[in-house]
Amino acid sequence: MVNTLLLFALLSAASTFHLSEQDEFHFKSWMAQHNKAYNMKEFYERLQIFTENKRRIDKHNEGNHSFTMALNQFSDMTFGEFRKSFLWSEPQNCSATKGNYFSSNAPHPDSIDWRKKGNFVTPVKNQRSCGSCWTFSTTGCLEAVTAIKTGKLIPLSEQQLVDCAQDFNNHGCNGGLPSQAFEYIMYNKGLMTEDDYPYTAFDGVCKYNPQMAAAIVKDVVNITAYNEMELVDAVGTRNPVSFAFEVTSDFMHYSKGVYSSTKCHNTTDMVNHAVLAVGYGAENGSPYWIVKNSWGPLWGIEGYFLIERGTNMCGLAACASFPEV
Ligand SMILES: *[C@@H]1O[C@H](CO)[C@@H](O)[C@H](O)[C@H]1NC(C)=O
Ligand SMILES: *[C@@H]1O[C@H](CO)[C@@H](O)[C@H](O)[C@H]1NC(C)=O
Ligand SMILES: *[C@@H]1O[C@H](CO)[C@@H](O)[C@H](O)[C@H]1NC(C)=O
Ligand SMILES: *[C@@H]1O[C@H](CO)[C@@H](O)[C@H](O)[C@H]1NC(C)=O
Repeated sequence: MVNTLLLFALLSAASTFHLSEQDEFHFKSWMAQHNKAYNMKEFYERLQIFTENKRRIDKHNEGNHSFTMALNQFSDMTFGEFRKSFLWSEPQNCSATKGNYFSSNAPHPDSIDWRKKGNFVTPVKNQRSCGSCWTFSTTGCLEAVTAIKTGKLIPLSEQQLVDCAQDFNNHGCNGGLPSQAFEYIMYNKGLMTEDDYPYTAFDGVCKYNPQMAAAIVKDVVNITAYNEMELVDAVGTRNPVSFAFEVTSDFMHYSKGVYSSTKCHNTTDMVNHAVLAVGYGAENGSPYWIVKNSWGPLWGIEGYFLIERGTNMCGLAACASFPEV
């Protein structure tokens, strides 16, 4: 009896030891893959967080969900840390209760992907550790709208918006809104190119040179809050559209499939991340949006994600806009 207990104790100790060795192995391969280095203390803290993330991901993927999760460059962070670095923390003023969008009376296509209709969408960019998602949503949209009109696709400057758009209730690395950024570009009479005003991921001094403006905005169009049909009409018949939604913890490790959540909120005051709808479609009868993110091409589906369409998922129809050029 005593022997059996002892053996059992030894075995379970061995198995937990074995487990953590495996966790450490997974963590070290992840570190190598993502070029991460830590000091000793950090290593054990991050190992712990990584392992918790990995367990959550594995558990999610064993369940029956419309999307899968995977380890990625964020896997050594808690959601709290992630939120601080990549999302905006204060509610922004997005409340176009009544927008100024006029629906085309034309039928919209069942599916559309602006990436395939021409050279209208620039490669996925990376906002890095700065809550500047709104600037990437803005440039992505203005790049596309301009390219559709002129036939020329020119990468535009996020940093100019980070550094210069404060008068329109934007806050650099602490958040802002595409609609307000379009207003800034309209009144400021231009946005420079990515090459001429490159991205640093830090708040800086405004260095806008009006002689180097490469894109302009003539008018800003807001989608009426929560009117997702207007959003479909705009993307289906006009151009890609900027929108905001609420990112919750499971989104951080999105990998593929149609994202859907029961945890996120759906109102204007809760959205915390801005992105760009570049198309929509349906898979086995489930409608989705095709969305360009700004967390680099290694995240999600080569930097993109799909999200449920038609239910104002995570508030995605709360705060959408695009420019006229
Ligand atoms: C998985 O979920 C789908 C959609 O909710 C459902 O139709 C299907 O029956 C589920 N499959 C299993 C094995 O539970
Ligand atoms: C669009 O919405 C923004 C707020 O997000 C607001 O400042 C702007 O006045 C609105 N524009 C129109 C034309 O309604
Ligand atoms: C919202 O608008 C008000 C009035 O213009 C302004 O004082 C406030 O700073 C804005 N909030 C944000 C987060 O930009
Ligand atoms: C938000 O979600 C709740 C619960 O699902 C729903 O009752 C409500 O109509 C939604 N509101 C909006 C504006 O989409």
